[in-house]
Formats: sequence, structure tokens, C-alpha cells
Amino acid sequence: MAEIRTVGVVGLGTMGAGIAQVCAQAGVETIGVEVTEELGGRARERVAHYLGRGVEKGRLTGEERDAALARFRTTTDRGDLAGCDLVIEAIVEDLEAKRDLFRELDGIVAPEAVLATNTSALSVTEIARATGRPERLVGMHFFNPAPVLPLVEIVRTELAADGPYERAYAFAERAGKEPVRCRDTPGFIVNRILIPLLNDCVRVLDEAAVTPEDLDRAMRFGAGWPIGPCSLVDLIGVDIHVHASEALHAALGERRMAPPERLVRMAEAGELGRKSGRGFFTYESG
Ligand SMILES: NC(=O)c1ccc[n+]([C@@H]2O[C@H](COP(=O)([O-])OP(=O)(O)OC[C@H]3O[C@@H](n4cnc5c(N)ncnc54)[C@H](O)[C@@H]3O)[C@@H](O)[C@H]2O)c1
Repeated sequence: MAEIRTVGVVGLGTMGAGIAQVCAQAGVETIGVEVTEELGGRARERVAHYLGRGVEKGRLTGEERDAALARFRTTTDRGDLAGCDLVIEAIVEDLEAKRDLFRELDGIVAPEAVLATNTSALSVTEIARATGRPERLVGMHFFNPAPVLPLVEIVRTELAADGPYERAYAFAERAGKEPVRCRDTPGFIVNRILIPLLNDCVRVLDEAAVTPEDLDRAMRFGAGWPIGPCSLVDLIGVDIHVHASEALHAALGERRMAPPERLVRMAEAGELGRKSGRGFFTYESG
């Protein structure tokens, strides 16, 4: 299996910047693509910041930080992805936007490259069908924050060939992640289980008149969760969770999958969790 030396990451938002950091730390040349230079620059600053924090905490040396940063460059020109062995897409969660992007990549990226999407809730198969090489497209579903959480779901469509699928798996492993294999089904593994479970937790708040603090304590001290469900929804982002719930509900139709009214109201009110400074709990910096 040819080794992956250069990785492209398209979209450097919450996920893409983290994925680019993982790739650069794994020792591969990493090219990040954004829509404007300013957004690319901001993503690079975020990566530099997190790598710097890693040095402060003794997780990596100053030399390792500098080497990782030197391997990561950003661009607005998708043509710069021509030499990539793997391109990971992490743009907005919109099927047509993703299909357009992969159609365009067909004319840029070498035929033997591996294509990957980080979609959480869209069909990887539908995305793969937009390309002229659906057998080379896989799902690489990282979790937020990508540099911290080890899991990567390596999602296989019916159209995928063994070679690119196993290369994606091997790359995730080489990058220090814990990849798992799964088929292209709504929610894949973790979201299929976690989204309805978190929705149940939120419904219990009202049904059993529990405070968010006590619900979190209940699940931490009674079920051994490392973080309580309300804190977890705040961390994920209330809007992201609502969107993912709606997608899962639309795909599978179980009532538990639909977002609870309370979360829909919070999302509408801009109470999005950590990123807005207020969700179930309040946070100092938004
Ligand atoms: N946020 C999460 O917790 C999470 C977890 C796992 C997977 N995902 C998935 O990852 C993907 C990205 O999510 P996110 O939360 O990072 O979103 P985000 O909005 O933070 O980032 C998306 C970025 O993509 C850029 N972009 C949009 N169109 C582009 C294009 N055509 N070319 C280049 N850049 C483009 C935007 O400027 C933005 O910076 C989505 O598919 C999402 O479902 C998100």
C-alpha cells in the first residue's frame, strides 16, 4: 500500500482545522483549502495556538510544534491539491456543496488518490456518486475536537474498493487515531447511539423536573459518564446537535431521534452552548 505523504483538507472550520493539525502532527505535508485567505490564516493561527498549548502542557516539544506548523500551509486555490494522496473534505454540511466540490476535485486530484468526507449525517454514497470515481471515496468521520478525540469512523459505501478504504484506515492509525470500520448507515456508529440517548436525557429534564446540574451529576455518578449530557450538548453545540437530530430523525423516523422542543427553542434563542457563552450553563468566553 503506497504511503500517504501529502494530505489536502478542504474547509478549515471547527473540524477541518483540527483534522489539518492531526495530519501535520502525523508528519505529512498538509494543504488546507478555505474560501478566503483570511479564513485560512485564522485556521492556521488556531492550529498554532493549540500546538503551543500542547508544548506548555508537555505533550510535544517546541521543535515538534515548529515542524508540524512548517508542514501545514493554507490556500484558496483548489488546484494546489493536485499532488495530494488523500483529500479530506470538511466543508459545510450540505449535500450539494459537497457533491459540487468532489465533482471539481475529479479534474484536479490524481486518479489514485483517496477521497474522504467528514460528513456527520449525509449519505457518503450520495456524495461518492457525484464523482467519476465513487470506488475511491470513503467517510472519515472525526470527532470534535479532532486533535483530542481518538475515534475516526471509517465509513464504507457499497461502491468502495478495498484499496482506498484500507489506505484511509491505515492513515488514521498512523496519525495516532483509533479507527473503526463501519457501513454507510445514518449516524454511522456513535451518533446513531448518542443522539437519541442525549435527546432522552434532555426530555428527562422536564419529565422528572431535574436541573441540568443534577442531570449531569446523575449520569456521571450513576452511569460513569466522564461528562454529563447537558455539558456534552453544550460542548457539541446545541444547533449542531439539533441539526444532527433532525437528519437522523428524517432518515430513520424514530420519535426519540427528533430534537426535544427545549433544544429547538435554545437553538432559536442563540443559546448554543460553549461557543455562544450560554447553553444549559454559562461560560466566561463565548
Ligand atoms: N462540528 C462537529 O462537531 C462535527 C463533528 C464531526 C463531523 N462534522 C462535519 O464536519 C463538516 C464541517 O463541520 P464544521 O463544524 O467544521 O463546520 P464549520 O462551519 O466550522 O466549517 C466549515 C468551513 O468550510 C469552509 N468552506 C465552506 N465551503 C467551502 C468550500 N467550497 N471550499 C473550502 N472551504 C469551504 C467554511 O468557510 C468554513 O470555514 C460537516 O460536514 C460536519 O457535519 C462536524
